[in-house]
Amino acid sequence: RGNMTVGDAAKLLHKDASEVIKKLISMGVMATINQELDLDTILLLAGEFGVEVEVKIPVEDDRFETMEENDDPADLQARPPVVTIMGHVDHGKTTLLDTIRSTSVTSGEAGGITQHIGAYQVEINNKKITFLDTPGHEAFTAMRARGAEVTDMTIIVVAADDGVMPQTVEAINHAKAANLPIIVAVNKIDKPGVDPDRVKQELTNYELVPEEWGGDTIFVNVSAKQKMGIEELLEMILLVAEVNEYKANPVKRARGTVIEAELDKGRGPVMRLLVQNGTLKVGDAFVAGNCFGRVRAMVNDKGRKIKEAGPSTPVEITGLQEVPLAGDPFMVFEDERKARSIADKRAITQRESDLGTQTRVTLDDLFQHI
Ligand code: GTP
Ligand code: MG
Repeated sequence: RGNMTVGDAAKLLHKDASEVIKKLISMGVMATINQELDLDTILLLAGEFGVEVEVKIPVEDDRFETMEENDDPADLQARPPVVTIMGHVDHGKTTLLDTIRSTSVTSGEAGGITQHIGAYQVEINNKKITFLDTPGHEAFTAMRARGAEVTDMTIIVVAADDGVMPQTVEAINHAKAANLPIIVAVNKIDKPGVDPDRVKQELTNYELVPEEWGGDTIFVNVSAKQKMGIEELLEMILLVAEVNEYKANPVKRARGTVIEAELDKGRGPVMRLLVQNGTLKVGDAFVAGNCFGRVRAMVNDKGRKIKEAGPSTPVEITGLQEVPLAGDPFMVFEDERKARSIADKRAITQRESDLGTQTRVTLDDLFQHI
């Protein structure tokens, strides 16, 4: 496996190699048939031939096989785990995260219904962990699914006084669908008369069996409010992270996923995203969904201005032309021209697919040829 050659690209685009070479030359790329093309060039080339290309970044591929095979192993570095917190409404997810972050800030949101995904990074014993807080209200299924898709592991929060509820089960299903390691945090154990073992018992119906009962699911009893069991929970997260050795290549251009985006009256479109691979820099030209932009300003989860953000970092940026959608893939391109042309093409593809027409090549297809 390696990059796609000019010959491969020609096959994929149903063109003669000579045509492709001519086109490449017209694009300023001197190429021979066996020359390898990078992804940006392939995308651009497809565009030149009028093949609609959808930049659909395969998350698994990006995180595992493709990443490790396409990167120089010497460039791969350990990255912080990305952990989603999921569970039924009011079971204490935001409170738990606030407690974990308590050294830094309190959001003041706990107790209210969470309506968006919050992303934060904490540092414990010099090790970073990125957390995504998801809403538990039943209306927010899509957000939970999205949360699961971009993360490495899930904390399922179950309130000991309430037990397993519909969105607990839903959360477990999202985690399983995304093949994520699960840690169960049985919360609110400070409440009088609660029995955490009842939750454990209930969860055996969903194939989550604690180690002491012969299974392999990590359970931790916690009280987010009384700050009990928090250290143990964090230790378990770091343990799972250590076992899985999450890596990324900070040397290359950034890729990630849009967490949230909105139009701000003063600043224009504002986007929160999770950088999943590569390093995002102020000034980078990018595509997010169908939108094109150039990073104007970037702040971290603590609201501090930063110039660069490596893998597993949640950031907020300005510098977009339009507002992308939550869940949209994000990718930095070599220059503004490329980013703009790809965003334009994606917008056209989108319009066409909305109309139910056209065949198109997705990045998935492209990756299969690499
Ligand atoms: P949604 O995001 O809306 O799904 O809720 P959530 O899971 O984030 O719950 P949240 O953290 O907002 O907490 C809900 C309520 O439970 C609040 O009143 C919290 O104070 C309370 N709570 C959270 N954790 C604990 C705990 O460990 N013990 C007790 N007694 N109460 C808790
Ligand atoms: Mg919440």
